[in-house]
This record gives sequence, C-alpha cells and structure tokens, in this order.
Amino acid sequence: MSNLTFIETQFPVSKLSKESYKERKANNSQTLTGLGKWWGRKPLVLIRAAILGLLLPASDDPKKDREIFLKLLTMDEEGLWRRRRGNIPASDVYQSATETEREYYLNRKDNKWQWKKSATKEDREHIQRRAFNRMSYDEKLSYCMRPEEIDGPSEEAWKEINAHLVTNVKSLQELVQELGKRRFGHNPRVGDAFCGGGSVPFEAAVLGCDVYGADLSPVSALLTWAAINLIGGGEKVIREIQDIQKKVYEAVKKQIDEWGIERNDEGWTDEETRKILGKGWNADYYLYCVEVVDPQTGWRVPLVPAWIIGQKTRTIARLVPDKKTKSFKIEIIQGASPEEMEKAKLEGTWADGIRCPVDKDGNWIEPHSRQATPIEELRGRQGLRLWENEDIVPRPDDILQERLYCIRWVDPETGEKYYRVPTKEDIGREAHALELLKEHFTEWQEKGYIPSRLIQPGDKTDEPIRTRGWTHWHHLYNPRQLLTIGLFQKIGLSIKCGKTSIIGLFLGIGRLANWNSRLCIWDPSSANEKGASTYINQALNTLYNYVLRGHSALETTWFYDIHKSIISTPSLIMPLDARITDFIADLWITDPPYADAINYEELSELFLAWYEKRLPPLFPDWYADSKRALAVKGSEENFRLSMVECYRRLAENMPENGFQLVMFTHQDVEVWSDLALILWAAGLHVTAAWTIATETETGYKTGKYVKGTSNLVLRKRKGDLRGDRADIYPEVLAEVQRQLKTMIEIDDKDDPNFTDADYQLAAYAAALRVVTAYSAIEDIDVERELRRVRKSGESSPLADLIRSAVKIASDFLIPEGLDRSIWRYLNPEERFYLKGVEVEVHGEYRDGVYQEFARGFGVKDYRGLLGSDAANRTRLKTPTELKGRDLSGQGFAGTLLRQVLFAVYKTVEEENPKPGLMYLRQELSNYWDQRKTILAILDYLSKKPSAMDHWQKDADAAHLLCGAISEDGV
Ligand SMILES: C[S@@+](CC[C@H](N)C(=O)[O-])C[C@H]1O[C@@H](n2cnc3c(N)ncnc32)[C@H](O)[C@@H]1O
Repeated sequence: MSNLTFIETQFPVSKLSKESYKERKANNSQTLTGLGKWWGRKPLVLIRAAILGLLLPASDDPKKDREIFLKLLTMDEEGLWRRRRGNIPASDVYQSATETEREYYLNRKDNKWQWKKSATKEDREHIQRRAFNRMSYDEKLSYCMRPEEIDGPSEEAWKEINAHLVTNVKSLQELVQELGKRRFGHNPRVGDAFCGGGSVPFEAAVLGCDVYGADLSPVSALLTWAAINLIGGGEKVIREIQDIQKKVYEAVKKQIDEWGIERNDEGWTDEETRKILGKGWNADYYLYCVEVVDPQTGWRVPLVPAWIIGQKTRTIARLVPDKKTKSFKIEIIQGASPEEMEKAKLEGTWADGIRCPVDKDGNWIEPHSRQATPIEELRGRQGLRLWENEDIVPRPDDILQERLYCIRWVDPETGEKYYRVPTKEDIGREAHALELLKEHFTEWQEKGYIPSRLIQPGDKTDEPIRTRGWTHWHHLYNPRQLLTIGLFQKIGLSIKCGKTSIIGLFLGIGRLANWNSRLCIWDPSSANEKGASTYINQALNTLYNYVLRGHSALETTWFYDIHKSIISTPSLIMPLDARITDFIADLWITDPPYADAINYEELSELFLAWYEKRLPPLFPDWYADSKRALAVKGSEENFRLSMVECYRRLAENMPENGFQLVMFTHQDVEVWSDLALILWAAGLHVTAAWTIATETETGYKTGKYVKGTSNLVLRKRKGDLRGDRADIYPEVLAEVQRQLKTMIEIDDKDDPNFTDADYQLAAYAAALRVVTAYSAIEDIDVERELRRVRKSGESSPLADLIRSAVKIASDFLIPEGLDRSIWRYLNPEERFYLKGVEVEVHGEYRDGVYQEFARGFGVKDYRGLLGSDAANRTRLKTPTELKGRDLSGQGFAGTLLRQVLFAVYKTVEEENPKPGLMYLRQELSNYWDQRKTILAILDYLSKKPSAMDHWQKDADAAHLLCGAISEDGV
C-alpha cells in the first residue's frame, strides 16, 4: 500500500458540491451562522470530507476506497436513506415507481396519489426505499438531513468500514483517533490560522481532533471559541444560556415599559386585558429618513427613494406640502389602492440626488420633471461637519437632519399591526429616549455598554465619515438603539453566570449591533415587512432611510439558534497573526483571504467597538483591536510576500508527514500560478487539487455553479530536485495525461463526478504537482517572481508552464461523440466551438470556462462566436445566429467547421438540405476528402445540442444535411 491518502487520489466532488449547496441553502439554520456575522464561512460538510480524506489511506482498490469514504460521510445509498427526514409522500413515490408498483400499492383519490389500503407498513417502507434508490442524488438530498444532523454511519456500515480499514471502531471520533495514531502517533491535531467564522476548528473538534484556531480578528476568535464551547458544550450549557437570555430579555422589556418609550396611548376595548397589559400598542419598527433643505427650492425635503412602506399591507406615505413652513407633512395610508401604490413608487424624493416634489412656490412637480440636486452640492467643498463624541443626533444647524416618519404599532390584544405617522406624543417619547440616553451616556461609554471608539478611515470605513460626518462607531446608532443595546449589556452584566453563558449573551449583543443600526434597510417587499441587517453586503453603506427595531422586534435577534454537539477534545483558540503561529498541527486546513475583496479587518471593527471593554476581562490573553496593518489582503507583491511568510510558518509548524489543505476560490491561471509560487516558496509540494462548488446562483440542479472552492492538498517538499523548464515540460505533459486518465477511469458513470472544469483544474494541479516537487527550477527565480511588480497583462514563467498544462488537458478532453481521429485534425477554433457546444449542453454558462478553453486551445479571440457573454449566461452562437458572416479569412472564418455551420444555416433557411450540400460541394475544393469529417461534425451537431431549445432547428437541420451528404455520390 502506498502512503498516499484518499484525498490525494480522489474526492467525490460532484456529491460534495451538492451537499455543500444544501448546507448553504439552510441559511440561518446552518450550525454556525446563528452565533454571529462572519463573511465566507466554509460549509462544514466540506471540512468533514477534507479531514477524513486526509486521514484515510488510499489502498490499491480505489473503487472500494470511494465506497468506504461515502459511507463515512453518509453519502452512500444506505447513509442517504438513514438521513431522510421522514416518509416520502405517496405522490413522490409514484413518480419513481415502476408500473407494477404503481398498480399494486398506489391509487389516486381526491386528485392525490395515496397508498392502497392493502399496502402494509412493510410494503410501504419497502416501496419507498426502492423509489428512493431510483432517484438522482439531487432528488434524494431533498428528503435528507445534513450529514452533521445524524449520528454517523450505521452499525452495518461500520462493519464494512472496519473490514476495509482493518479497524475496530464504532464512531467517527474513534476512527479519527485511530487513523491519527497510525499516521502521526497521536490524536490528530488540526489547525486553522485564518479561522474566520470557525468552520474548520469546529468541525475538526466535532470529529474528535485536537484543534487550534486563530485569526487576526478577535471577533473571529470569539466566534470560533463560541462555536466550540457553546455549541459543543451540550444540552446543559445551552439550557443555561437560554434561561439567562430570557431573564435579560424580560428585564429589558420591563425597563423599557417603565420608561414608557415604546408604547402609545391607543385605547383598549377590553378592560380586563388593559388591567393585565397596561394600555397602548407596542412599537415594533420605527422608520427614519434624512431630511435636508433643498438648495434649489429652499424646501425641507425628507429623502426616501420610494414611498412604499409595505407591499403586502399596501402601505404608503404621502407628502403634503406646507407652504408656510416650506416643509412636508407626511400621511401614512394603509390599504392603498393599486394606483396609489404605483404613484408612491414614483414619488421618491431621492434618486441620484435630491428630487424636491415642489418648486420654490410650493407648486407640485410631476416626478419625471423633477431635477436632481447632487448631495455633493450640499456637502460643499469642505465636506460635512464631523460629529463629536457627544453628538448622538444631528445638531440643529447640520445639513443632514434625521426625521422619524412612520411607526409600526402592534396591538398586543389582537396582534394586528398598524403603520402610523408619529404623533406629538410619539415625538415626546423620542425626546424622552434621547434624554434617558444622555443621562447614561458618559457612564455607559466608560463601562463599555455602548461604543466610544473612533472610526479609523479606511477603504470601507471612509464612507460613514465622508457621507455623514460620523467619526465614532456609536454614531452608526440612533439614541433609541444605543439605549436599548446598552440596556441589554447592562442587565446582562448584572446576572451572575459562568463564562460560556456570559459569552452567549455577549454574542447576542453582536447580533443586536448588526440588526439594529442606522445602516439597516427597511424591506417593504418581504412577507412580514421587516428590517434587514447592517451587513447585507460587505460594506458600510449609509442610507437615506433606515429602520429601527423596537424591543419586541429584537426577539428573533436576541434569541438565536444554538445547535447542539458534544465536543470533548482540547482546543486552543486565539486572535493571532498567522505569521507568528507557534502551534504544531498535523493537518493545517486554511482558507486564506486570497485575492478576496472582503475587508474583514475593517468590517469587524463595528463589532469590536461594542466588545472593546468587555473582551479583555473575559480573555485576558487576547488583544481587542483589529490589527488592521497586519491583515493579509490584495493580490500584489506585498500580499504575495506576506502569504509566503504565513505559509512558511505553517509548513515549519507541521511534522514531516503532515499535510496542508489550502482552500481558495478558483480564478484564472495568474491567480493559480501566484498561489503556486507562494506555496512553493513556503517549501510545500502540491499533491492534489479538487474544486467543490460552494455557491450557486441558479441552483445546482441546472449545474450552473457560480463559485467553486479549490482545495489544494500539500505536503512538505522533500529532497533537492533541480531542473529547468525544458526538463520539466515533458514531465508536466505526462503527469497531466496520467491524472486525467485516472479520473476518467474512476469516474462514476451514473452520477459523473467530474465536469470539464474539474479536468482542467486537475491539469493545473498536475502541473503544480510536478513543479512544486522541484526545489529549484533553473530559469525561474522564485524570490524575484514574488517581489516583481507586474504590469497589467504580464505573465509569469510559472503561469506559462501552468498554461501549457491546460493546453494538454484541452487536447485530451475530446467532446463525447467525436472520434479522436477527427478531433486530432481539427484546428483550435474548431475545437473551441465544438467543445463549447458540449459544455453548454452540460448546463455550464460561466464565462470563465470559455476563457479557460480559449486559453487551453490557444484561441485568441472568441468573442465573435458568443451569442451571449453575460456572466453566467455565456453561450455560443448557433449556426442560425452566425448566419453568413465571416466565411473566409483568418481564424474561425477560414475553417471547415465554419463552412459546415453555414450549410446548416442554409438548410434551416431553405427547409431543405440541398442548398447546403451544394454549397459545401462548390466551396470546398477537397469536399470528397473532407466528407468523413463533415459527416462526423454534422452527426455531433445533430445529437449533442438537440435538447436545447435554441438549438432545436439547427440540430434538426444538421441531421437532414448529414443524411443528404451520406447519400451523396452513393
Ligand atoms: C476567507 S476567511 C476564512 C473563513 C473561514 N475559513 C470560515 O470558514 O469561516 C479569511 C480570514 O483570514 C483572516 N486574516 C487576514 N489576515 C490575517 C493574518 N495576518 N493572520 C491571521 N488571519 C488573517 C481574516 O480575518 C479572515 O477571517
């Protein structure tokens, strides 16, 4: 047996992509998302597969290895059946049942498929199982829980696993321990030095590994710590946190009620209820907007892009001009007519500038005639006044004022919701809330209940400063928000409890800070008409109108799902720059901020502002600032050098037989070659790479993946192999071919694991495998390459080498249905087109795939061949779309295929193959020599794309023409 691990020989990429997608789709019920916001958490199922794949040895029976691996992940037939949520409805069983099964066990009643009375419980179970087995993987998944939601493989499965691995274990944790002992002599130690939201340390701990998790950001360290200690704390810990959360929530409510700031005086009809609940409705949402004096008209204008408040409740706001005060009163109408709704949509007062609805004299102007006044005109050259610490609302002479324009009330007796314009009393309650905050402001800042930190200017943090004059993080919150969240902090701290529960409450504060700021959008179109969170995107976008949540609307924010999982192995979590890691891990699994546009360090400062004074007593060894300057980011030379430092450190901190798995988002050859350069310079050797689709736009069922995560498997480089590019090229060639052949051999014919993109990627990886095995390549100076400032479009020698690997892959990947003897004689443009047709049939519409093919085949300009070049909708022109353009000249125009496509177009146009046939006969001097190739191409075009609607008539025409040519001259 070799010492290779499973993941170095194969990986079930297709099934894992589907599982990852399923996990992602669970949104907020994903295990870790409830704990708090982090950007780009990796799916747990992928981490689980990676760890098991790194620990599992590869035997000389790859098929069996795969079966066992799928069993471990409960991704085999039996495991999927175990994971199903409940019974499969009779109507779904019907879809997958045979005629006989339908006849014996099912009938249709009341327009629905049902089980026949005669079908016993056993029959039903049996037929469901058979129907399930016949379903595709995607269909099966729709009835299943995630692998993490069940208790691993069944007893039966363990028997087979143990037999194959020669183990005697009954759980994943025992297996991991055993495999770790065999390979490393101890329980495996898994580390992640860029741990972000904590996926790697958490899943590794669930599998029973000893774990280390660190990240530059203390917010990330806190989330990771919580993942392991809260979620992994088990039932008792979770119950304690939930009890305390409840106490705090109730106490905050009591205080807010006593202050009387969220209730109005609406009367009660029922005396009894009034006695119990007191009087009035509760406010659950407050809508605010910016108000400015329009310099063109002198009118004070509330700025809102559209005056629709609720789609479902048909609620709108209407502006009523008041000539005396040159300002607008606002009316709120609930249950508006469709015409009023349409008008409210158009009446917005903000669209690329202030759009005042009246002229100087107060005469109404129709929306399309309103001029936009750019906000820059108001800000002036010197910009806005910068707020001071004590400014919590705009000063009276500030340019941007803030106005409360609507409150949503809930009648506690009936649960009915009402949108209302704020009354005089409501404005009084606003003032009262402000007074209360002012009373506590200094003390609360000192104690760290509310933030006091300055916002440091930066790529993302400039926006609040520039567009609002906000200089401190608490300026992103309105007085009510500061008062409420501060109160949660104060009351939470007054309750005596253990560290885990304190942190449970603390994360609640982070959630409130994210869901209740001046950057929260009001979403009128959502089913319940509600507010969104601050970070709906990766920026700090200031808003012209925003929503504030009252206490009752904070319930779902404060209480969050804490999934349960028992973790009992040791863990070490801390904030730390990856460059100074000193933990020794057997497996480093990292997902570095690679050429990734997310500004973690700046965005997470919002949370740090809330945690600043509270974090140090809880974690005395941790720092509590963002260490912005140390963040690894970008893609230029500084980035490359810091990445080398990080990875060199990690490579030093692993045993000789240790592994690294580096995840990153698959981009182009340059990115790949840079990463290769980095890992190479760090002394690592790539041994495999697999791409898992972790995100999708249109759903995995259509196969239109948007984003794949590439997973590079690395070992420490051994020996001192030296060579030059000329030596290495043939080796790359052989390795790419070997790799592709193996993949084709082990692929699952029924549920293909690999797409063309995977084969291409495997070609990159194969090239990297060869290249990174060398400690030096004579004509590539690594240090120089790392430091070199590249001009745009400039390539690196390593990128050229990798590119040559892709070319080999492209030559190798013959579209199914075309013979190698034909393929061999096609030129690059022809190959590009025919391969493109195949890719499209497989539902692949990513622009990047065509780019890669073009590179691989060596086609310079293919844009003219595209029917659409929109991202994720890229496709080729059909013969009919190509029409008679470009029939001679260089490139595609001069090819045989181009003439054949024209003949197809002629056949479509004339509804007869004759003209097309005659055309080919006349135009091609060597028609008879080329006849075999023409027939092969037409046969391919008549079959491959025929399932796509937009190709239908061309495919039919190709079929007709093919028939005519094959009979020609016979
Ligand atoms: C792509 S994210 C990791 C996401 C993580 N794998 C998950 O599943 O949530 C990259 C992380 O690198 C961190 N980072 C950036 N520079 C760093 C440095 N110098 N040392 C350690 N971590 C750093 C960022 O804070 C960010 O959390």
